[in-house]
Amino acid sequence: MTTRRTPLILGALAAALAFAGAPAWAQQAKLKVGLMLPYTGTFAALGTAIENGFRLYVAEQGGKLGGREIEWFKVDDESDPSKATDNVNKLIKRDNVDVLVGSVHSGVAMAMARVARDSGTMLIVPNAGADAVTGPMCAPHIFRSSFSNWQPGYAMGEVMAKKGHKKVVTITWKYAAGDESVKGFREAFEKAGGQVVKDLSLPFPNVEFQALLTEIASLKPDAVYTFFAGGGAVKFVKDYAGAGLKASIPLYGAGFLTDGTLEAQGAAADGLLTTLHYGDSLETPRDKAFRLAYAKGYKLQPDVYAVQGYDAAQMLGIGLAATKGDITKKAEFAAAVGKARIDSPRGPFTLSKSHNPVQDIYLRQVVGKENKVVGVASKALADPGRGCRM
Ligand code: BEZ
Repeated sequence: MTTRRTPLILGALAAALAFAGAPAWAQQAKLKVGLMLPYTGTFAALGTAIENGFRLYVAEQGGKLGGREIEWFKVDDESDPSKATDNVNKLIKRDNVDVLVGSVHSGVAMAMARVARDSGTMLIVPNAGADAVTGPMCAPHIFRSSFSNWQPGYAMGEVMAKKGHKKVVTITWKYAAGDESVKGFREAFEKAGGQVVKDLSLPFPNVEFQALLTEIASLKPDAVYTFFAGGGAVKFVKDYAGAGLKASIPLYGAGFLTDGTLEAQGAAADGLLTTLHYGDSLETPRDKAFRLAYAKGYKLQPDVYAVQGYDAAQMLGIGLAATKGDITKKAEFAAAVGKARIDSPRGPFTLSKSHNPVQDIYLRQVVGKENKVVGVASKALADPGRGCRM
C-alpha cells in the first residue's frame, strides 16, 4: 500500500542507509582539533596569538574546514617539555582528536612529533622551529606553518657579515631553539668570513641576564646576535639598553626578539634590526585584509604568531578540501598541502619536501611600535631539511 507520505518515508530511509554506510569520519561530523599551546609562562601571549589566528581563518570559512564543523580541545603545555608527552596523549587518547596543532616551544614540539609519528596522528606545528621536526623526525603527516630555527638565524648571518661585522658574541637560552638559531647564524656568518668569539647562554626560561651582559661589555665584540622571544625578549632588550650596551655594541636578532613585544619594550627596542618571515609594514592587499580582520576581531594588532596560526588553519583547510573532509586519507591530504601555494599574509609560500615553509626572510627595523620591513634578507629561503627521509 502506498500513501501520499510514501516518497517522504523512502527518502528518509535512503538518507539513513547512506548515512549508515558512510565512513566513521562523516558520521562523527565534527572535526576534533587539539590545540596544544602555552597559555601560561613566558610564551603565553604567543599561544594566544596562534589560537586567535587559527580561529580567525576558520571563522572566515563560515566555521567549517573541508565541510566539517570544528570541535575544539585545548591543553596548556606551559612550554614544559617534561610534561609534553602526557599532555599530547591527553589529546590523542582521552579526547580522540583528529589533528594536533602545536606548539610554541621546540622541546615540546619534538615530544609532539614523536607521539604523532608513533600514533599516526596528523600534526601541524604553528610555531616551534625545532630543526628536527622537518629534519630527522619528518613524516608525511607532519607539517609546519612557521619556520625552522635555522632560517632567521642563517639570514641574519649573511646580513651581519655584509654590514662588515667581524667578531660577534651570541647570547640565547640553552635549548633547541636557541642553539639552532645560533647554529644557523654561525653557518652563514662564518661562511662569509666572520668569527663567533663566544657563545653565551642561560637555561630556559631564566631572565637573569646581568652577569652575561657584563661579560659582553668586557669582550667588546663588533656586535651581538641573539635569540629570545616572548616575556624573556622584553626583559633582555630592556636590560641590554639599561646596561648601556645599545649605543656601543649593536644588537641584532632573530625577529622573535621584537615581535609582539614592542609595547612592553618601549624605546629600548628603537632601531633594532632583526630577520623574520613577517613584518608590520608589508602593505600588500592580503596582509592589509588580514590585519584589519584580526584587529576587528580581537582588538589587537597581529604579530608573526597570529599569522602562523592563521596559516596552520589554511593548510588544514587545503588538505581537508582535497579529501572532502576525510583526514584519514593522509596521502591525498599530504599531496594537496605539499603542492599548494599558501596565500599567507606574510606573502605566498610553498612547502619544502620535508614540509617546512620556503619563504622570504625579511630584514626589519624597529620604528616606534612597528617592525618595519626594510628589505628582503633572503629570498625564498628553504631549510636544508638535513636528515629528513621521506
Ligand atoms: C621555539 O622554541 O622554537 C621558539 C619559541 C618562541 C619563538 C620562536 C621559536
